[in-house]
This record gives sequence, structure tokens and C-alpha cells, in this order.
Amino acid sequence: MLCVVRVVSTSQLPIDLVGQVTAALPGTIVEVPPVGHVGLAGVDLRDADALVCLLLDKIDAKLLASAPKLRVVANCAVGVDNIDLAAAAAAGVTVTNTPDVLTEATAELAFTLMLAAARRLGEGERLVRSGAWTGWALDQLLGVQLHGKTAGIIGFGRIGQAFARRALGFGMRVIYAGPHEVSAEGTERVSIDEVFARADAVSLHCPLTPETRHVVNAARLATMKPTAIVVNTARGDCVDEPALIDALTAGRLAGAGLDVFVGEPKIDPRLLSCPRLVLAPHIGSATTEARTSMAQLCADAVIAVLSGRRPPNVVTRTA
Ligand code: DGY
Repeated sequence: MLCVVRVVSTSQLPIDLVGQVTAALPGTIVEVPPVGHVGLAGVDLRDADALVCLLLDKIDAKLLASAPKLRVVANCAVGVDNIDLAAAAAAGVTVTNTPDVLTEATAELAFTLMLAAARRLGEGERLVRSGAWTGWALDQLLGVQLHGKTAGIIGFGRIGQAFARRALGFGMRVIYAGPHEVSAEGTERVSIDEVFARADAVSLHCPLTPETRHVVNAARLATMKPTAIVVNTARGDCVDEPALIDALTAGRLAGAGLDVFVGEPKIDPRLLSCPRLVLAPHIGSATTEARTSMAQLCADAVIAVLSGRRPPNVVTRTA
């Protein structure tokens, strides 16, 4: 019996997945939605061999059971908290992600949010657009200077280190908390609590795990300087949002920048009216360069697994 190989993507991609897969593996059927993201409800996985998905797609044991032929899930994101890795391992499904290619883009966005929060850019932009700006004033929208201050980084992997390079270039000191000592000149490894107590700007660059859920919480916020800033481009659940809202509203924190939210795209309405808060719609890796390379890594992973090779960037792989 002729066995047809099927590759399914839950989203349109900025590369020619159909062309690349069929060139490498002639006869393979590749299904890519014509526009946007159709999600798992929009694809038929019953006889799919490979799945390209986004961080929006929840890959759990039930989903995997409905796809008995599946050999690879190529997640077009570096974070894999949307995937039950144990269930994938048990099902013999290889999971890949897209590290490295989004490192600089994500660090740039985190840095953007830090600068925007420090200099109250959101408030300034709203003031100018409102037509209510009456002109230059000595005490208008005073922010905090970052030069000479301390950047605190939670999670010192690729993106955390890329953020640190930028901070050092801006004349900041860098302290970080992470599972490993990293030899990076001008940086100091300290405990998580020490990062919050000492830093003038804390930026999260950790994966979402049970340990990092609510790594920003009321207790740690209470130890921060009132002139400090919190930035989150990691995952929404790393921050206890009500605790952050309370700290900002009470003026116990100078500002925050959030790119990710608990339960996004729904946003706690209190965040929308919260003072000193800069908001972005989960665009950490949203550059043409990063997103194209991320999609390319997914194509490479699918082709590798279907060709019997070990793909790059395996997160979990069973024998
Ligand atoms: C990721 O890759 O995990 C980001 O959140 C989106 O690029």
C-alpha cells in the first residue's frame, strides 16, 4: 500500500513550506492555510506525519492521541510551554523550537520597553496625540536615567545575555539570576531575590516553568526600589499581574513594560488604566528577519525528521 506522507501547518508562514518540503521529499502532501492562523481546529491531524504550529496551539496528550502517525511537532517559537513535552515523549513525537534566530529581536524589544518605561514614552505619546500638550515644562514627565544604574536579569540564557550586552553598552551594571554561572565580563550572578532588591530595572528572560510562575510577585515587588522598572517579554504567567498593578498604582514602582500577559490576548482591564505601564502585543520576536528564520527552522526540522535525520533544536526526542 502506498503510504502518503502529510505535513500540516496551523498557520501561513513567511517561507515556502510546500515548495521546500516537496523539493526535499517528493510526493509529500503539505497543507498550509492560505492566510493567517487557523489553529488546531482548522487542520486534520488524523494521518499527519508532521505538524508546524505556533505558541497559540496547545499540544497535549489528547491532541497527540488524535494524531497517531505524528513524528514531529515543529513549534514556531522558542518557548514550548504550549506543548506537553512528557506526553510528546511518551507518544514518540520529536519536538523542536526556534532558538537563536529571535534572540536579538527579543532583546531589542525588551530594551525598548525598558527605555520606554523609564522615560514614560507611552504617557508622552498619549499626551501629544490628545492635543492637550501645552508645551515644554521643567517638571513634565520626569523619568529615570538608566546610565550608571543596575540592570537585573532573570534568566541568563541567550536572550538574557543579549539584553545584558545592550545594558553594558548603555553604561549600566548587570546582575543576573540563572541556574548557571555564565562568564560574561561586567556581569555578576546573584540570587533572584537579590536581583529584585538591587536592580533599577528587572527584565525577565526565563522560560515559563513551575519555578518561574509569578517570579514577579508582591513579596519581591515590595523589596524593589520605588524608582525601579519591571519588563516582561517572557511569558505572562511569570508576573503576578494584580501585584504589579497594585505596586504601580500605589507608586511603589516607577514603571513597567509588558509584552506578554496572563490569558492573552485577553488583558486584565486594570492593566489598561494602570499608570506608568507600557504595553505591547507579544511582539518580542516580531521582526521580518526573526520570523522568517523561525519559520525556516520549522521547515528544516520537518524535513530532517521525515528524512530520518536528527533535526536541529530538539527539545524532547524519544529513541
Ligand atoms: C517565543 O518564541 O517563545 C516568543 O514568545 C514568540 O516568538
